[in-house]
Amino acid sequence: MNAPATEILTADSADLDRAAGLLRAGRLVAFPTETVYGLGADARNGKAVACIYEVKGRPAFNPLIVHVANAQEAALHVEWTAQAETLAQAFWPGPLTMVLRLRAGCGISPLVTAGLDTLAVRVPAHPAARALLHAFDGPLAAPSANPSGRISPTTAAHVLAGLDGRIAAVIDDGPCSVGVESTIIDLAGPAPVLLRPGGLAVEALEEALGCRLEGRDEQGPVTAPGQLRSHYAPGVALRLEAAGPTPDELFLGLGAMECDLNLSPTGDLVEAAANLFDFLHRLDARGQPVAVAPIPDHGLGRAINDRLRRAAAPRD
Ligand code: TXA
Ligand code: MG
Repeated sequence: MNAPATEILTADSADLDRAAGLLRAGRLVAFPTETVYGLGADARNGKAVACIYEVKGRPAFNPLIVHVANAQEAALHVEWTAQAETLAQAFWPGPLTMVLRLRAGCGISPLVTAGLDTLAVRVPAHPAARALLHAFDGPLAAPSANPSGRISPTTAAHVLAGLDGRIAAVIDDGPCSVGVESTIIDLAGPAPVLLRPGGLAVEALEEALGCRLEGRDEQGPVTAPGQLRSHYAPGVALRLEAAGPTPDELFLGLGAMECDLNLSPTGDLVEAAANLFDFLHRLDARGQPVAVAPIPDHGLGRAINDRLRRAAAPRD
């Protein structure tokens, strides 16, 4: 028997009500955020959350980000702190996820945190995500809407390429503007720790907090399994920091240069981030090894390099 088709919805209010109804019924709905498309489920419904892990084929120890409408709603689920307030005022709604202590009895399914006593929360900026959270009126657990270990989706077509027939619906509202996942900061410990560079520049976070952020020790325990080395893996081999391609390679460029696809001909790292996953998908589809031009390691370039290193890491 064929799998039931995934409904393709728009961001108009009737369709968002339909999506909210599906979510209330424990179904999975993919929706756009400014970073990447998320695979949403009611964060209070353990079965719905289990479906996320199942559909993604995600390792069970990999906790999920909970999306909420505003900081007040976040504070219902986590123990709010002065630093959280500072960052929320500066960067929410937007591509920042904060890990804070889970509030006991807040109703979030323990499957969301995969057993941790902390919870990752974020207020997305995308109008369709905000309208969906308003219509749903509750917390949505949402990892990126791709099978685990594959490239994150930045269009509804990417979502369907990985998950068609396996989720109830996808809200198609065009490509994501940021194109890499949110920056994750852990505020649950004695000092803030950067868990994942992402769509919000680390320098901006450091300025708001008035301190330097240390990334996690590469040898340390995996607290953000997005940090697993081969997490973002296309099917083809990637060679980084390449001056140019060998005869059998495709070349992913940046700045003025001859190449097969250019992340940004002007070297704009924001444009490069927005193109990154789409271009990796396109190169992956051509089935040839890929050489990647050097990417400056500042601002969003740090997130791009982080993603590229994971994509290039040897597969387990
Ligand atoms: O931009 C984004 O953040 C996208 C959109 C959909 O919002 N979401 C996303 O989710 O990238 P996901 O599940 O692909 O990545 C979530 C990351 C994982 O690396 C996970 O381990 C980490 O967040 N995480 C979640 N809860 C955590 C916690 N309590 N402590 C540490 N890391 C956590
Ligand atoms: Mg992901």
